[in-house]
Amino acid sequence: MSPGRTIGRLLSSQYASLPRHSSLPSNSSRSLSSTSQYSSRIGLKSFTQRRMGSSAAAAAAEADTVAAQANYKIVQDAGNFDEVQAKRPDFDHSKPIEVTKTPNPNWEYGQGVPGANLAQKHHEIDPYASDRPMINNYRLLVSGIAPRPVGFLSTVNSKGEKNLSPFSYFQVIDHDPPMFIVGFSSRPGRVKDTYRNLKETGECVINTVSENMIEAVNSTSIDAPYGVSEWDVSGLHEAPSSTVKASRVAESVFNIEGKVIDIKEFEDHQKPGMSIAATVLIKATRFWVKEGTANEDYSHIDLEKLRPVGQLGGMSYGRITSTFEQPRKKWSDEAPKSEILAELDAAKPVDK
Ligand SMILES: Cc1cc2nc3c(=O)[nH]c(=O)nc-3n(C[C@H](O)[C@H](O)[C@H](O)COP(=O)(O)O)c2cc1C
Repeated sequence: MSPGRTIGRLLSSQYASLPRHSSLPSNSSRSLSSTSQYSSRIGLKSFTQRRMGSSAAAAAAEADTVAAQANYKIVQDAGNFDEVQAKRPDFDHSKPIEVTKTPNPNWEYGQGVPGANLAQKHHEIDPYASDRPMINNYRLLVSGIAPRPVGFLSTVNSKGEKNLSPFSYFQVIDHDPPMFIVGFSSRPGRVKDTYRNLKETGECVINTVSENMIEAVNSTSIDAPYGVSEWDVSGLHEAPSSTVKASRVAESVFNIEGKVIDIKEFEDHQKPGMSIAATVLIKATRFWVKEGTANEDYSHIDLEKLRPVGQLGGMSYGRITSTFEQPRKKWSDEAPKSEILAELDAAKPVDK
């Protein structure tokens, strides 16, 4: 496990007692932001720079950021994308979601993967090797861990200025309590505004992303200056929240209001000129489901209405046009029906 620094206890204890719609007490905010450590964490100064005079440190920080920027290749050059796109078929909004059989409906216990090629060997990679560029890890991970749901986060800063941005290092990680995780990547210069806002106020709304929203959602990922609202950039509409200050995205099928429970910053991994990488754990405080998109007791959202998109590698996204159902089984039902399970059952270690 990486020795990242956990500052969540401070955050959760501060936020636990906050009344509805309150933000961090101003002295708490100051005590964090006045330390040079905090400046480092938000990517402003390196350790060496903190030992210099303020103008020399600022110049060194700027030089580090410029150098880091020259090396930063996460936002891919799409070439003449309009020309490529023009040659592709139109998006079929009316395409129904078909339900098929499972891939191998006759699969039996112990069968593994029918047709899998085990002759192909795996290539071993050390993600930290000195000759391994970070961008290769990025491309490998986003293409290999796919599809990823897009968590569309609405936040405000301590002054109430609004922000809206997509994150696919995102997942629901439990339902009881309902918990979510979001990963903020390192980038040249300042930390991402969403992360800064989560740290300042401890609140957000997580909004789902449906197919018809993707262009608007993508527009909010532009590196807008701090304080510029991506609501204005995208034209998406705000709806009021109950337990947090940030607005909900009215176009989304599902909105989740949430509070920050824990933050882990990866200090040991921070590079000159780059902001710190961090993951944030969020606990839901309210759910909102668009009427007409779920069953009567709001326990199931209709996939035809949600039409989720998943982020894939490179610039690709996937939509769901086909599904299958695969029921989970119980040992007590299955063991009597399967020779291999019956054998495993008979040979199981006896509890002492
Ligand atoms: C679909 C999508 C998913 C993204 N996922 C992440 C992510 O998981 N983590 C991250 O740091 N940036 C991610 N980004 C990039 C951020 O959205 C982008 O840096 C944005 O400008 C951050 O905005 P902010 O500074 O207003 O918070 C993603 C962008 C897109 C379009």
